[in-house]
Amino acid sequence: MIKIGHHVTIAMDGPAGSGKSTVARRVAEKLGLLYLDSGAMYRAVTVLAIENEVEKDISKLIELVKTCRIEFMDNGKKILLNSEDVSVQIRTPEVNKLVADIAKVPEIRHEIVKHQRKIGEEGSIIAEGRDLTTIVFPDADFKFYLDASVKERAKRRFLELQAHNTDITLETVETEISERDEKDTSREHSPLRAAKDAIRVDTTGKTIDEVVDFIVAQVNSRN
Ligand code: CDP
Repeated sequence: MIKIGHHVTIAMDGPAGSGKSTVARRVAEKLGLLYLDSGAMYRAVTVLAIENEVEKDISKLIELVKTCRIEFMDNGKKILLNSEDVSVQIRTPEVNKLVADIAKVPEIRHEIVKHQRKIGEEGSIIAEGRDLTTIVFPDADFKFYLDASVKERAKRRFLELQAHNTDITLETVETEISERDEKDTSREHSPLRAAKDAIRVDTTGKTIDEVVDFIVAQVNSRN
């Protein structure tokens, strides 16, 4: 367990389907941390764009982002956009397709990062996404970079989507993930990359529990 009164920040990055969200959520439960799903915030901004029909009008979207309220409930399980629960809307195929293009806009990232750092001040936290180890919390106490092969990541996401009765093929999921990887790693601002001092975890062939236990052991060994 993390020592009481000791403020701990764990930052975790990795591509889609690397297991970050599930792993971070479980580590948060085990260690009593606040869980921050940074991707959910970019997804909420994408919902904001769609709802206001400003997907193409980025300057209008930036204005909306500056005044919108994004809040988490139930330790990251629910996300509210201007008091509306958008937890389901943020996971639609339409949002999957659009989010990387919205998330590459520097002014939008600037607003979201400010918000994330504020949440980080509230207490010990595990935060995951694409730029948590490099930009948002470069001085985090612990940094992890999770990865897995594209095939394995697509398979995981496909099974997740099937559980929700989504009518989508494995090939489509793999293409979608590869396209998002490409956009996330090649963008000019805050591209996805492993921080130099991040501990790399290849999750290919590993269970969620194995990854969670590894991370918890790393944290406990230094506390
Ligand atoms: O769950 P999955 O890994 O598919 O995606 P996510 O973590 O919900 O993030 C969705 C998208 O938001 C990513 O593909 C990135 O384009 C963007 N994102 C980002 O730019 N920076 C972050 N810190 C987190 C997400």
